[in-house]
Amino acid sequence: MIQHRWIRHVGVLASCWSIALFEISAHAQSTNTDLSPLRDLASQCGIWIGPAVAYDPLTGEAIYADTLGREFSILTPENDMKWAPIHPQQFQYSFERADALVAFAGANGMTVHGHTLVWHSAIPSWLSSGSFTRDEMIDILRDHIYTVVGRYNGSIAAWDVVNEAVNDDGSLRSTLWLSSIGPEYLDLAFRFASDADPNAPLVYNDYGNESINAKSNGIYDLVSGMLARGVPIHGVGFQFHITLGGIDLASFAQNMQRFADLGLGIYISELDVRMQLPVTSENFATQANIYAGILDACLAQPACRVFQMWGFTDAHSWVPSSFPGYGAALIFDEMYQPKPAYDALAQGLSQCPSPVVGAKSSHRSANVSKPLAPAQ
Ligand code: G3I
Repeated sequence: MIQHRWIRHVGVLASCWSIALFEISAHAQSTNTDLSPLRDLASQCGIWIGPAVAYDPLTGEAIYADTLGREFSILTPENDMKWAPIHPQQFQYSFERADALVAFAGANGMTVHGHTLVWHSAIPSWLSSGSFTRDEMIDILRDHIYTVVGRYNGSIAAWDVVNEAVNDDGSLRSTLWLSSIGPEYLDLAFRFASDADPNAPLVYNDYGNESINAKSNGIYDLVSGMLARGVPIHGVGFQFHITLGGIDLASFAQNMQRFADLGLGIYISELDVRMQLPVTSENFATQANIYAGILDACLAQPACRVFQMWGFTDAHSWVPSSFPGYGAALIFDEMYQPKPAYDALAQGLSQCPSPVVGAKSSHRSANVSKPLAPAQ
């Protein structure tokens, strides 16, 4: 089965690779003495790099949009593709904000990571308070996924199909989906997404699963079972919402490898490294080392092609409202000045070994006319 998935993805990538070789060689000829934007450095390393993006600052702050388009090659809608914003009433969808983010990505040669098709949070009240039978819930889930994935077919590099379905002990989280449909909801969601866009890689995304632990063991068993049943799942997301305590990088490397051995892509999906306020230069240095260590671990793992952060400027982060007394979790400060963590990423990317064709696993960019660094 792994051989099959590799053939499929390598086929897609081969067409990208020839265009990208041109792009890389052209870039090589134009290399300037200053460090290039992160997206260009990442492209030479064979990876995509980018943040979660919010509609309001993107449309309201020029410096937000300018920084995003200059530095990054992928974006994830932070909220605008979730159920409540995009499907506010049972028979009404609202696409304006998500469309704007997808349009910005297209206009800036970026790709989009869709987030998220099934989650226990951000559920609109018509659904959470409704009294639907199991068959009705399955029909609602299918309609939602067909409608949303179908609308963005060809614009999305990968989908977070199911988000945070596993507890810390490795058991399935008790959610509306589990109680109304049963554990089959996961297989159904991935099959519906594959029906709607057979080419987009489909990802299971979670937090607290970065090291080898009861949760990541539970996720490993979950996705292994899905693969054994022929469910179209292609990757696992590791969110990395962490503190200055960092994580055990050796355990993360082992963890990535076992999922890669299943033929799955590795997605660093929501990285931010929060710290107690007020900030100090020592804490900024520790933060930079943590960002650099996670990047190095990704660059060393052929199946890791996507390095995503949960925002990029401390001016717009979920952290302060969710963790009172904490903040400064991202790579640009509130004034959009690059922090030591930015410099650490630039340094790490500028020293990566040039991608060896076939060394990196698959991550197809939906927009093959603008491949970023599709080293295989
Ligand atoms: O848009 C409404 C606005 O109209 C209303 O006035 C306001 C006050 O109620 O709420 C606004 O919606 C908020 C939304 O963010 C947009 O700002 C929601 O209440 C709030 O719950 C929501 O929080 C988001 C959270 O997910 C829940 O969806 C955070 O911004 C977002 O960063 C966070 O992201 C999650 C990932 O999706 C999954 N992984 C964990 C990560 C952090 O929790």
